[in-house]
Amino acid sequence: MGHEDRSGGAAEQEPLLPNPVRIYDYLLGGKDNFAVDRQAAEHLQHAIPGVRESARANRRFLVRAVQLMAESGIGQFLDLGTGLPTSPNVHEVARDVDPEVTVAYVDNDPTVTAFNRALRADTPRVVAVHHDLRHPAEVLADPVVRQAIDLNAPLGLLLVAVLHFVDRRDAAALVTSYVDQLAPGSLVAISAACAADLAAPDVARIQAVYSATTPFVFHHPDEFALLFDGLELAEPGIVEVSKWRGDGLSLSYAGMTFLAGVARKT
Ligand SMILES: C[S@@+](CC[C@H](N)C(=O)[O-])C[C@H]1O[C@@H](n2cnc3c(N)ncnc32)[C@H](O)[C@@H]1O
Repeated sequence: MGHEDRSGGAAEQEPLLPNPVRIYDYLLGGKDNFAVDRQAAEHLQHAIPGVRESARANRRFLVRAVQLMAESGIGQFLDLGTGLPTSPNVHEVARDVDPEVTVAYVDNDPTVTAFNRALRADTPRVVAVHHDLRHPAEVLADPVVRQAIDLNAPLGLLLVAVLHFVDRRDAAALVTSYVDQLAPGSLVAISAACAADLAAPDVARIQAVYSATTPFVFHHPDEFALLFDGLELAEPGIVEVSKWRGDGLSLSYAGMTFLAGVARKT
């Protein structure tokens, strides 16, 4: 993209609008972004000075959560809101523990799906599908998804840094719709941008960066806990992404915090 075309297709044209996936890629230090995305990311960094560190801490949370899941014997993963390929990817982290792990990557961004499909081409037992995660019945009925995951066995469900693109009023019910279909013993990892008392101008600035494509929604920290309703939270419960079995650095900026938790379906 920005520097190379990993999809093997024709080089893409510079887009007019920033895209949240490529903004995130840039914040993580990736190369799959355009000038318009880098500019948007810099605006975001200006509005929330710690946003780059939060994005990276979020990714490290994802890695630790997948490690925990694989070490707990989870052999299949459903990654909703996958993002662009980022080293290490979910299947790479899990396969360090169990080389037979299967993964279904789901995203509603066409570029993400194309990149993840290209990745899948030479990676057995990894599939990438294009779906809106707000339609759980369609995602779970997709025959390609069902090639990779068996709902009768425990799986690792990942909803990492994606629910802040979903209406906060719908998020808990959405998580429940997936969890209801999972076998006992499944583990669920969730992180999202939360804010209790972010100043209105800061919220407006952040939302303005994203509004060109996807509405950005801050979850209230109290509401975030509701996403784990009926599940058994693993230690240390719901904490900032960096503190979830991590280095414990505080990454709260201007009232915004990335919260995270991992829980078991009993
Ligand atoms: C910030 S990235 C997170 C990537 C990865 N989960 C991580 O934490 O590193 C959010 C991803 O969610 C995807 N996404 C946003 N809304 C979605 C939806 N309704 N259905 C499926 N994917 C969605 C975006 O396209 C993007 O790839």
